[in-house]
Order: sequence, then structure tokens, then C-alpha cells
Amino acid sequence: MSGHGTPIKMTSRACGPLKGTAEVPGDKSISHRALILGALSVGETKITGLLEGEDVLDTAKAMRAFGAEVTQHGPGSWSVHGVGVGGFAEPEDVIDCGNSGTGVRLIMGAMATSPIVATFTGDGSLRKRPMGRVTDPIRLFGAQAFGRHGGRLPMTILGAPSPAPVRYATPMASAQVKSAVLLAGLNAPGQTVVIEKTPTRDHTERMLRGFGAEITTEVTEQGHVITLQGQPELKAQEVAVPRDPSSAAFPVCAALIVPGSEIVVPGVSQNPTRNGIFITLREMGADLTFENEREEGGEPVADLRVRYSKLHGIDVPAERASAQIDEYPVLSVVAAFAEGVTRMPGVHELRVKESDRIDAMARGLEANGIKIEEDEDTLIVHGCGPEGVPGGGTAVTHLDHRIAMSFMVLGMAAQQPVSVDDGSPIATSFPIFEDLMAGLGAEIVRADR
Ligand code: S3P
Repeated sequence: MSGHGTPIKMTSRACGPLKGTAEVPGDKSISHRALILGALSVGETKITGLLEGEDVLDTAKAMRAFGAEVTQHGPGSWSVHGVGVGGFAEPEDVIDCGNSGTGVRLIMGAMATSPIVATFTGDGSLRKRPMGRVTDPIRLFGAQAFGRHGGRLPMTILGAPSPAPVRYATPMASAQVKSAVLLAGLNAPGQTVVIEKTPTRDHTERMLRGFGAEITTEVTEQGHVITLQGQPELKAQEVAVPRDPSSAAFPVCAALIVPGSEIVVPGVSQNPTRNGIFITLREMGADLTFENEREEGGEPVADLRVRYSKLHGIDVPAERASAQIDEYPVLSVVAAFAEGVTRMPGVHELRVKESDRIDAMARGLEANGIKIEEDEDTLIVHGCGPEGVPGGGTAVTHLDHRIAMSFMVLGMAAQQPVSVDDGSPIATSFPIFEDLMAGLGAEIVRADR
């Protein structure tokens, strides 16, 4: 889809204690990958717990356009009849990945080593985001890419007719870039190698292994060296998608700042490349415990129990940035309710997310009476203490779901209600956000209701 329709103004106001169980949706990263790897496998992949947000539904549509049979059987329950590695058909029409950087970048990688042509586009946010980070490495396989100025969508990719394997050191910490190269490497002969100086989420590696590819990760002085043997026969799998830690972060952070709250968020992935936010919150003084630690669908998961806590500001280690990259917006909200200053260095990648998240958070926090400092790579929040956040402002979300949800959390414990100009992008990753938060006791209203 190319937009999110009419903007939906939303307002969140201070509420009583949040109580209950928050069953957040399936992990977005794993959901995209389950559909794409299912489409590249032979046989029927069965998926449970799939996130049915707009981003993932756009990837499902794209996989159909490349020739896979993708069927929904019930809530979260899907099957994919794959076409096998190298079996993608040429799409008849433009592939619209909506708001999803993960969707478009992974799919570009997956088709780059097949002799087909595809044109990609997205919504107003995605069309502003850089695609050069994926087209640079896929050109090394022999693919060609023609996009708008600055490597922007819409963009046409001509897949390589006789791809060569690639050895590629990712210039930025990006799981999307790593994954695009690995997915391209699937249909190249020989070994494709990706070197990551800073490790990023490893779902692609784990899932490729699960689907039967030969893939190893070696920890060396250069960083993580990931080696994939090309042209495997991927075999259909049953994928149980764990709940998304990035979505769990919203009710968890809300419970930490709303006095008297206690909630449980069950079955949340604790993959060490994703759990930075929970470590950071505990360092800030959060009463957050992990219960029933177990393994589900190849990922470590736990039930999170969270109680309202008096928090203090900290210096967040820059090395943790990639393990909590999507959680900085809501972390900066929590920091506003802490005593003292929270410094978040090493976050320049936030500038090229669904919005420039440093700028969007900084402007929105200022509009709600919170003092911040920023530079290209850092966000600093001066905490107002648990009862001292003024609120009363409206944040601009720039088609960014996480900016919208973060400011709705801010309003739950601020002195005055907090609004966002447009909450419609929340549907891209967390379509049940409003109902789930209302079920815990939050008060979020839409201007049109
Ligand atoms: C994702 C990787 C991250 C993250 C995004 C999902 C993925 O992006 O921000 O929400 O599923 O691979 P980058 O690869 O750009 O860091």
C-alpha cells in the first residue's frame, strides 16, 4: 500500500495502574523471513503466530507476485507453498512494500540472483529511505539497479543471469543489509561471505539453518564472519513465531512509568541480538523479571513480569545500539520519567529508519516540555522524575509507527494529555496496540471517536 489513508489523530491521557497480561503480536523480523524463506523452499511451510501487520501482509503479497502460494488459514496461521531457490517468477506488476524497509530490502536481495526484473516502491516514508546499502552489494553478484536520485524508490532491479558469489563487509550495522546479501547468496554458486563488525539480529542465519542451508558464523578479530554455501535445497518448515520484543517494549515501558502497574508479557523473544532494551531498563532500576525461560521456534523466550519502578538516568553503552535499535524512541520516553540524565550515544542509524527518529523524538519530547540535547549520533534526555513530565504537546509521527506508540506511552503518565498527529502507521507493526493497551487500563482516544 502506498499510504496510510486519512491521518488519525490520537490522544493518550494519564490513567490508573496498568494490570493484566499483554499478548503482543508475533515478531516482525521473523514473520518477514518466514514468508520469504517459505517462498524459497520446496514444499509447504506452515507458520503460526505470524504478525498480521501491514508490513508483513505486504511481504505476503510480494511473495505471491514472485510465484509462491501464500494462504491464511486462521489468525496468525499461514502456509506458503514455495518455488525453491532460484524459482522466483517475474512479477507482473510493481511490488509495493508499503512502509517496510525490511520487506523491500530482503526481497530485493532474494530476487537479485534470479534472471528476472522487478520494480519496487513504497509509501512516502519508504520512498525517502536509502536503498544504496542493498544495491551496492547486490551489484557485486551481477544484478543491476535503477532507482531515483540518491538510491531511492521506486527502483527496478535486473537480477543477475549468472551470479557470482560475494564476500562483503557490511559498512553499517544492519541486519537488513546482511540478510539481503545472504538471501542473494542462496542462488549463487559457491560460498557467499558476510562480515559484520558489529553483530546485528541473527534471525536470517538461524532460520536459514533451520530450513536446511549450510551456514556458519565465526567470531574473529574482524567481527562475525558468516559463510553460506550457495544453491542449497531449502526444505519447508513449521515456524512458530515468538512474540516481538520490540512490540513488548511498549506495554513494558508503559507499566514502568504508570504508578501502581504490574503486567505480564508472555512468550517474548529473548534473542541476545534483540534484548538490549530489557538490560537497559534494568540498569535504570526497572523491576523487570524473566519467568519460564524456555525455547520456542528456535528462539529463547521468557514471560516478562514488570512492575512500576522509580527509574534513574544512565549512560547507555553505544555497543548495545544494534541489540535495541528499534527501542530508542520508547526508551527516550522512559528516560523522561527518570531522575537525572540518560545519554544514548551510537544511534546515528536512527536517522534512516521509518523517520529520522532522533529528530522526531527530540521535537516531540520538546513539545511536551522535556529538555533534550542531540547531535548526529547521540540523543540525551534530561529526566523530569516520575511525576514531573509536563505533556500537553502534539508530536509529529512522519509515518513512523514507533514514534506514534512512544508518544502514546508518554501520555499515560504525563501531567497533561499527549497527542500525535497521525497514529495510522501503528497498524504496520502492532495492529492491536490500542485494544491491548486499553485492556490493561490505558486511555487512548482517537479524535474521530
Ligand atoms: C530489521 C533490522 C533493523 C531494524 C528493523 C528490522 C530486520 O534495521 O531496525 O526494524 O528485520 O532485519 P537495519 O537493518 O536497518 O538496522
